[in-house]
Amino acid sequence: MNMPLYDALRALEKENTLRMHMPGHKGRGLLPAFEGLSGIDFTELEPTGNLYCTHGPVYRAEGLAAQAWGAKEACFCTNGSTGAVQAALMLACPSGSTLIMERGCHKSVFTAAAVLDLNCEYLWEVSADTVRQALKKGGAAAVCITSPDYYGLCKDIPAIAAVCREFGAKLIVDEAHGAHLPFMEGCSGAAAMGADLACTSMHKTLPAIGQTAMLTSCGTFGAGEMKQALSLLCTSSPSFALMASMDAARAYMETEGRESYARAAAEVEKIRQEFPCLPSSPLRDPCRLTVLSKDGFRLGEELEKLGIYPELCDEDKVVFIVTGMDTREDFARLKNALSALSGLLGSGELSPIPAADVKLRPGAAFRAAKKRVVLQDAVGMICAQIVAPYPPAKPLLTWGEEISQKHIAYLMKKRYNILDKIFVVEHSDGI
Ligand SMILES: Cc1ncc(COP(=O)(O)O)c(C=O)c1O
Repeated sequence: MNMPLYDALRALEKENTLRMHMPGHKGRGLLPAFEGLSGIDFTELEPTGNLYCTHGPVYRAEGLAAQAWGAKEACFCTNGSTGAVQAALMLACPSGSTLIMERGCHKSVFTAAAVLDLNCEYLWEVSADTVRQALKKGGAAAVCITSPDYYGLCKDIPAIAAVCREFGAKLIVDEAHGAHLPFMEGCSGAAAMGADLACTSMHKTLPAIGQTAMLTSCGTFGAGEMKQALSLLCTSSPSFALMASMDAARAYMETEGRESYARAAAEVEKIRQEFPCLPSSPLRDPCRLTVLSKDGFRLGEELEKLGIYPELCDEDKVVFIVTGMDTREDFARLKNALSALSGLLGSGELSPIPAADVKLRPGAAFRAAKKRVVLQDAVGMICAQIVAPYPPAKPLLTWGEEISQKHIAYLMKKRYNILDKIFVVEHSDGI
């Protein structure tokens, strides 16, 4: 397999150099579990390259990743998609500009928008039509959407990208959950479909280590400027073990991965036929298994008792992340468990997130003097934090929104991550 970064690190490891440099483990794993990883975990040296430069083994590995994802440029990021999202917003949105963003975006988008002091317009429904309506008002620098989402639902990115181009706005796609899609029949990566910037968690759906992610571009942005933004926001000591893991994951996906993920998708399809699930559709991730439940929290608890840990449980759904690493035995175990718990399966009731009135720009609430009040006392006050039960970390409330009785009731109904106090803007009278 062609892995320029992984191979360069292994070659240097074999030279048995005297490592009078970072990291302090000096290539020796403290515990057996860290041994192989420490050996290739170097720092920026001539033979290893530098994440923030456009030459050397890291850049060569990124070049192969760009090709594999059908993008013009790809930059690794060891701060997860969170880091990639921050860099994307910084690149596409001048400070103080307008961002049209999906209200269901991950909290990293809200945080970046608040830090950059963007004027946010929220889209509760995302389609080429709703994006067009929002852009018609004029002046938006960028549009940010999520595709695929936690449940595997994808958006019509080529159509949305075309609308954005028509209005001169950049399209940012958070495809944190979609790293595997370019390797699946009939699917593509967001940058290949016209996203100006796409943020992709490698660790969520590929065999790559936690925190690994990429920022890709269809060509609107060059590697130099993307790396500049990433270097301002992310660690100056990116782990070479993490970067090598992305190089290896890409090489795997280009070879055996296609087959193992196709097999996984076929197993998911069988489960979808047998149990109540979100059905397959042309705009759904073939590998994402979303089981419908009358009580998703309870189903999650019962599965855990059987030693099965899903990715996410909410009132009416349980989400399983399935990849090419899952074996035939894993699927059999999951199916047995679902059969045993069939009484909890079926359509449940989902209380939709109550909408909120925006009273302040997110950045203004982010910077305002705050106080912390008991949740029940916060009705009518302006939220000065993100309230996002995790996962999926979609905010129920965000900076600058007015807290209503409906929000409090919703939070009380949630069975986990319940807050008892909340930060609000201290002086909200007259806003
Ligand atoms: C839609 C979405 N975007 C971004 C992120 C952040 O990704 P990461 O955990 O790689 O920083 C997540 C994490 O769950 C997510 O679900």
